[in-house]
Amino acid sequence: MMNDAHGSLMDGIYRYQRHFYDFTRKYFLVGRDEMIANLAPPPGGAVLEIGCGTGRNLVLAGRAWPGAQLFGIDISEAMLETARGAMAKAGLADRAVLERGDARDFDPEALFGRRAFDRIFISYALSMIPDWATALAHAAQFLAPGGRIEIVDFGQQDRLPGLWKRAFFGWLAYSHVVPRADLAPVIAGLARETGMAGHCCSMARGYAIRGGLART
Ligand SMILES: C[S@@+](CC[C@H](N)C(=O)[O-])C[C@H]1O[C@@H](n2cnc3c(N)ncnc32)[C@H](O)[C@@H]1O
Repeated sequence: MMNDAHGSLMDGIYRYQRHFYDFTRKYFLVGRDEMIANLAPPPGGAVLEIGCGTGRNLVLAGRAWPGAQLFGIDISEAMLETARGAMAKAGLADRAVLERGDARDFDPEALFGRRAFDRIFISYALSMIPDWATALAHAAQFLAPGGRIEIVDFGQQDRLPGLWKRAFFGWLAYSHVVPRADLAPVIAGLARETGMAGHCCSMARGYAIRGGLART
């Protein structure tokens, strides 16, 4: 069931921000481009972004991986409107389907007519999804054999000055963003439960974190 309160919150945050979101986040959301460059879906493979926002990442993925079919979900209809415009502007509309869905319980069969994806990526969205561990476990069900989930998000700022960490976490909390301290153990637990291979590592002195799961 779609969580309309959370969807309304996201719409409220992004209704105006979406018009300058990409410009203001360019250097701030570290690790996105590296993650996209490493997606390497199989030829003709299906790539899904959960929490696709303005569509910025899907446009880059579409350019980097010309054979891929692109799918995106977001709980914010405002963000989706911007994302659909971005895909059309990039000439990728015929390869992309973007639908409103809640990361915690979306039904890919109903939204996209398919149950499995070769690559699923989640970029700076788990830190905005209250029930983020449920969302990650939900996504893991939809990995095709040989598929991978890739995650990038804010880290714990643990190798940066304490003053920076306090100020930055305060500002993120004001924006409804909570860096997930338990991301590594949650990935490890999911890997144990599902038999997938998990990975997680900190980037840029703890500013960001990269993780994921791979199905053999
Ligand atoms: C910080 S933005 C990141 C956008 C994009 N992934 C990027 O890297 O630029 C977080 C996005 O997650 C979406 N989001 C938050 N909670 C969600 C949920 N439960 N299900 C789907 N999308 C969600 C928001 O609407 C927003 O577009």
